[in-house]
Amino acid sequence: MQVLTLFAALIIAFLSSRAGAVDLENGEEINEVCAACHGEYGQGGKNGEYPRIAGQPAGYTYKQLKRFQDRSRPNMPMVEHVDKRELPDSDIEDISVYLSKIVLPTKLPPVDETAPDFDAYQRLLQTKRLMQIARAEGDIEKGKVLYKKECRSCHGKEGVGKPKDNVPMLAGQYTNYLWRQVDKYLDGTLIHDEDEPDSELLAEFSREDIRDIFAYLSIADD
Ligand code: HEC
Ligand code: HEC
Repeated sequence: MQVLTLFAALIIAFLSSRAGAVDLENGEEINEVCAACHGEYGQGGKNGEYPRIAGQPAGYTYKQLKRFQDRSRPNMPMVEHVDKRELPDSDIEDISVYLSKIVLPTKLPPVDETAPDFDAYQRLLQTKRLMQIARAEGDIEKGKVLYKKECRSCHGKEGVGKPKDNVPMLAGQYTNYLWRQVDKYLDGTLIHDEDEPDSELLAEFSREDIRDIFAYLSIADD
C-alpha cells in the first residue's frame, strides 16, 4: 500500500514538472551565470553599475529579460547571456521567479554571541545577504512628501514596489542605477509608463526634486 502511494506521488510530481510549472532549481542554476555580475544573491554590485535584481516582482524581471532579448532595452554586457538559445522562455520564467523569492535583509536580528547556541557560521551567512543602500544626498522630508504624492500610487508604500502590477521596488535599489534609468526615461531611450508612453511623468520634476525623492528612498529601507 505504502509503495503504491509513493509510486502515485512520484507520477504526480513528474506530471506536474512537465506541465510548465516553475523550476526553482533550474532558476538557481541559471543564477550562477547572473551572479558573475549581479552577485550570488542578486544584490548587484559596483555601487549600482550592476543593479540589484533580488526581490523584484517576477513579472517585472521577466519583462526586462524579454526586452534585453529583443533589444528594445539595450544592454551590451548582458546581450550574450540573454540570447534566445541561451535563455528560452521557460528559463526566463524560472530565473525571474527564483530571483523574486530572494529576501535581502537590511539589518541583522540582535544576537547574544556568548549564548551556547550561537552559530557563528550562520551569522556569517546572514551578513553576506545584508543589503543597505547608502544615504543619498538631498532633503529627506521634502522627498518623502513628493514620493507619497507622486510615486507611491504605483511604486507602493515606502518604495517596496507592486508585484501584482509588475512595478519595481525603488527603495533597496542603488541610487546611481535609479539615476541612470531616470535619464533614459527623460531622453526617451526607455518608456516609464506604458499606459502613457508619450508623457514622461518625471519630466515635471526638477533634478533637485528627484534628488530629494532618492534621498528619502535611500533611508526608507533602514
Ligand atoms: C556581464 C555582466 C552581466 C551578467 C552576466 C548579467 N547581467 Fe543583468 N545587467 C547587467 C548590467 C550592466 C545591467 C544594467 C543595465 C542598465 O543600466 O540598464 C543589468 C541589468 C539587469 C536587469 C534590469 C534590472 C532592473 O531593475 O530593471 C535584470 C532584470 C537583469 N540584469 C537580470 C540578469 C539575469 C537574470 C542574468 C543571468 C541570466 C544577468 N542579468 C546576467 C550586467 C549583467
Ligand atoms: C503610473 C505609475 C507610475 C508612477 C506614478 C511612477 N512610476 Fe516609476 N515606474 C513605473 C513602472 C511601471 C516602472 C517599470 C517600467 C518598466 O517596465 O520598465 C517604473 C520604473 C521606475 C524606475 C526604474 C526602476 C528600475 O529598477 O529600473 C524609476 C527610477 C522610477 N520608476 C522612478 C519613479 C519616481 C521617482 C516616481 C515619482 C516621481 C515614479 N517613478 C512614479 C510606474 C510608475
